[in-house]
Amino acid sequence: MDWGNLGFGYIKTDWNVRSTWRDGAWSPLEMTDSEYLTLHMASTCLHYGQEAFEGLKAFRGADGKVRIFRLEENARRMIRTAEYTMMAPPTMELFREACVEAVKRNEKYIPPYGTGASLYIRPLLIGTGAQVGVKPAKEYMFVVFVTPVGPYYKEGFRPISVMVDRHHDRSAPLGTGFVKVGGNYAASLLSGAEAARANYPSVLYLDACEKKYIDECGAANFFAIRDGVYITPRSTSILPSITNMSIRQLATDFGLKVEDREVEFAEIPTFEEAGACGTAAVISPIGKIYDPDNEKTYILGDGVTPGPWCVKLYDALRAIQYGEAPDPRNWNTII
Ligand code: PLP
Ligand code: COI
Repeated sequence: MDWGNLGFGYIKTDWNVRSTWRDGAWSPLEMTDSEYLTLHMASTCLHYGQEAFEGLKAFRGADGKVRIFRLEENARRMIRTAEYTMMAPPTMELFREACVEAVKRNEKYIPPYGTGASLYIRPLLIGTGAQVGVKPAKEYMFVVFVTPVGPYYKEGFRPISVMVDRHHDRSAPLGTGFVKVGGNYAASLLSGAEAARANYPSVLYLDACEKKYIDECGAANFFAIRDGVYITPRSTSILPSITNMSIRQLATDFGLKVEDREVEFAEIPTFEEAGACGTAAVISPIGKIYDPDNEKTYILGDGVTPGPWCVKLYDALRAIQYGEAPDPRNWNTII
């Protein structure tokens, strides 16, 4: 494996783990080497979108130990998504055991320390029971697979350019944006493709009602820095990012003030730095924001070099994930 040059894609590993929910209980975990699921054609995941997923990472540390970052928070979010979409939620224990087992069984795919790569863990929950009326399924499947990954954006830690999209929304204020369901991503594919065609690796979505406030990027939260303040949008239509939650804490530790509030698009010219953050995106500094409707381009910093706060926060986050720095809040599960 060319660990240093991995992209963010699917690479087959040896094992995945599964459990099924039937008659009110989750089955004991099963390991399998099959990459396929056998599904009833009337499964609710296929017709009515009963589908939830998560994304977290395992890192091989400086000390050789393997750490999973913020496993409990990802479990909590999947439980919230399951409850909102009326699926059987995995228990915290099931989620933990499945992630740990999937990582352990695929140990040889955990990228070596120093390559910058990690093992992405993808928990998936789907309604597998058959329904034709719009009703929740009576059976569910919980699957965890892993795959080694490199940077989500080919820019790595260099600033990315994002394009504003006022013509599509990925989610609505009282809709599903705050949970991690596949439909939110289906809703973002067309605008993502349009942005990619114009050479922008990510879309910046605005609030669906007024297009006045910043929501988030397609697969990552938005943050900005101004006058010693870390500013990040509060919105009911964005996914509560666990990376953002962690960076907010690190920012506070560094003495930055944190503002979690509605952020007007009009504030962009006042920002010293901006970034996209998420498990896949880590911290991807934003160097350029293009607004096609007004034919305006905003450059942050010099547009090509990560700003000093992005560097500081990125380094601090990576150091905890790779076991180079203490982990005072026990964000890592060491396995
Ligand atoms: N926002 C969206 C839409 C995402 O898909 C993700 C990725 O999970 C995030 C934000 C970042 O969340 P997290 O930091 O928990 O990975
Ligand atoms: C993640 O950061 O884990 C994501 O889910 C982003 C994307 C790959 C969907």
